[in-house]
Amino acid sequence: MTSSLAALEQRARELLDLVHYDYFAGGAGDEITLADNEQAFRRLALLPRVLRDTSSRSIATNLLGDPSSMPVFVSPTAFHKLAHPDGERATARGVAAAGLILIASMAGTVAIGEVTAAAQDVDREARVWFQLYLQPDPEVTAELVRRAKRAGCTALVVTVDSPVHGRRAREDRHGFHDLPANMRAENMRGLPGSTGDAVRSIAMSSDFTWDHLRRLREMTDLPLVLKGILHPEDARLAVEFGADAIVVSNHGGRQLDRTPASLDALPAIAAAVADRIPVFLDGGVRCGSDVALALALGATAVGVGRPVLWGLAVGGDKGVTDVLDTLRSEFEHTLTLCGIAELSELNTSLVITRGASQ
Ligand code: FNR
Repeated sequence: MTSSLAALEQRARELLDLVHYDYFAGGAGDEITLADNEQAFRRLALLPRVLRDTSSRSIATNLLGDPSSMPVFVSPTAFHKLAHPDGERATARGVAAAGLILIASMAGTVAIGEVTAAAQDVDREARVWFQLYLQPDPEVTAELVRRAKRAGCTALVVTVDSPVHGRRAREDRHGFHDLPANMRAENMRGLPGSTGDAVRSIAMSSDFTWDHLRRLREMTDLPLVLKGILHPEDARLAVEFGADAIVVSNHGGRQLDRTPASLDALPAIAAAVADRIPVFLDGGVRCGSDVALALALGATAVGVGRPVLWGLAVGGDKGVTDVLDTLRSEFEHTLTLCGIAELSELNTSLVITRGASQ
């Protein structure tokens, strides 16, 4: 983590109720995977090239056809009103001002239609994707998909790593089970089976298979992104299924502790997918050189989760934009110092294991 981001997290920690800070910061089990997500980046080194003209590079790109000012997006995280009274509305404004795509969590404290409206108030071109957990009642899933489509979301990100809720010791220690009285999971409003006022308001089910995804595929023409893939064989099945993209992710170390760091899982998945669909990654991305390393190892784009929450807690929409603008400027700087003139030049020849000889 860069010192500026560490300072931001420290500031957020001071501002937030400790219970809410721990909800955001914590991970599953012994938090081994949580720590490893960041450490994996530290185990690698960038091998720069010199004397290459990098003066006119553009890092703007598009993800599934949607514009993005760099190959970075904002990963879905729950309950933003715990960080700031404007919640996801502020996040949406801040992300739109940075020219990035926000993946809005189904567990938002602001309804999805208001999230997309806030983003588009800032920039008509702003794009929001909706993160979805398949629901045991297919009619509930169908209604969530309709709401996302009506709100103008341009992709669905189905989180597939959560047959059950992760076991997070910090939440258990604090007995954090109910949301504060002034907030709820707004996307669940009016749907059977959830009151939306508990931390674990979203139903999970361990009986989902690829067949359930096929039913979702029939419900909508929106692009489908599968989030939470770590095994190369599942990546291959995702391509076969017809996924539009996948996210290599261990849910920020919040589901199964002792999975590999996302970065360590990436090379085998990139090889299995072989450029047939975009491969996104999230988990532990904290600075511009992390973005460069992940792209060099085969990611099309990377997501950031917690750093955006710290920006939101400290500075609302401006705080979010600051975090993302800092990441962009660090990424540009890294590319220049690596002699990279085009994003497509980022490849494995630029990466070695720290401490290893070439
Ligand atoms: C998450 N994440 C998550 N993922 C998801 O698909 N739906 C969700 O509702 C949530 N909620 C959530 C809450 C909080 C507080 C955190 C920290 C994370 C996981 C998230 O999308 C992402 O995978 C990780 O946060 C990425 O790791 P970093 O950037 O936080 O290290």
